[in-house]
Amino acid sequence: MSTEKVQIFDTTLRDGEQVPGCKLDTKQKLVIAERLELLGVDVIEAGFPISSPGDFKSVSEIGKLIKKDIIICGLTRAVKKDIEVASEALKTAKRPRIHTGIGTSESHIRHKFNSNKEAIIEKAVAAVTYAKSFVEDVEFFAEDAGRTDNEFLARICEALIKVGVTVLNIPDTTGYCLPEEYGAKIKYLQENVTGIHNVTLSCHCHNDLGLATANSIAGVVNGARQIECTINGIGERAGNTALEEVVMILRQHPNLRLDTNINSKLLYSTSQMVSEKMGMRVQPNKAIVGANAFAHSSGIHQDGVIKNRETYEIIDPFDVGVDQSSIVLTARSGRAALAYRAKLVGYELTKNQLDTVYIEFLKYADLKKEVVDNDIHDIVSATDVAIEKV
Ligand code: KIV
Ligand code: ZN
Repeated sequence: MSTEKVQIFDTTLRDGEQVPGCKLDTKQKLVIAERLELLGVDVIEAGFPISSPGDFKSVSEIGKLIKKDIIICGLTRAVKKDIEVASEALKTAKRPRIHTGIGTSESHIRHKFNSNKEAIIEKAVAAVTYAKSFVEDVEFFAEDAGRTDNEFLARICEALIKVGVTVLNIPDTTGYCLPEEYGAKIKYLQENVTGIHNVTLSCHCHNDLGLATANSIAGVVNGARQIECTINGIGERAGNTALEEVVMILRQHPNLRLDTNINSKLLYSTSQMVSEKMGMRVQPNKAIVGANAFAHSSGIHQDGVIKNRETYEIIDPFDVGVDQSSIVLTARSGRAALAYRAKLVGYELTKNQLDTVYIEFLKYADLKKEVVDNDIHDIVSATDVAIEKV
């Protein structure tokens, strides 16, 4: 059986940029877009053109800049003016896509639009039809699809397929779904919508319950072929699906027979770059790209990793662009870790020497959060054994 491709739709520059305090100017957006091109994403959602002149400019400039066969996408509401402005901004793009949509859940229909299901279908169909008069590639988002009943979702999808929608985005806007539920939603659409196999189903999952990545994976396992995600999982509230996580999950589980076009060796540096440009620190325990993702600090783990990296690591750090695993020295570290780090700074310790240095090390480590290379020299000097540097 062959491996199928899952398209990576990066929305760092649109949903990701909605994080308060993380707004980017056009210059910064261009630098990130260039990096996303290098990383190998399939779609760049470059912005929401009607939202501000700056965002219009960014979408237009990104369209000019990106030379590869990458789709450049602009967001709109299901509103004529939005669609006209987006199509104008996307004129520079080699492969433009308009991403339009409307809320479909009971809550959105009743409270946001004071409307009804029939009127929502009509608006959705009108928006997609209008967008198709400007560009061939039109994606529709059924906002709050996670809380939309599946039967209604299927009806709206079917109506949109009839007017030529190319991608159907099923967002779990509020991050409410459980993976089984989200996966079942995608499966339901696959099984109950006429023409569904002629379009791409897309997952767009938010992380309010920490399930964005799990839900996206459940989506592709059940037939979706596009994941909408951001670098470092940034985005509204608790964020979006993290690009680096879904990419590495599919890579580490070849039995799923799904893969992406991403050059995983650029994941770490891309994460750092986005973090720096947005002024948003990556949490140290963040999967794949956090500072501690390949750091080992407890004695038992360190001993295992020094003997064989795979004892406690399921990913080779090199595969995501991290130079090497690190052995962090703390008061929980054992002799194996101390000997290993001492050797790196030039001390080849015999067993007896190690026993002596280890006693001194523990005294030191109890006073500090982490023992660094310079401390090792001090610790060795503090013992009365003569240890030659090699
Ligand atoms: O979360 C969401 O529903 C969105 C849509 C605008 C795609 O971001
Ligand atoms: Zn979103």
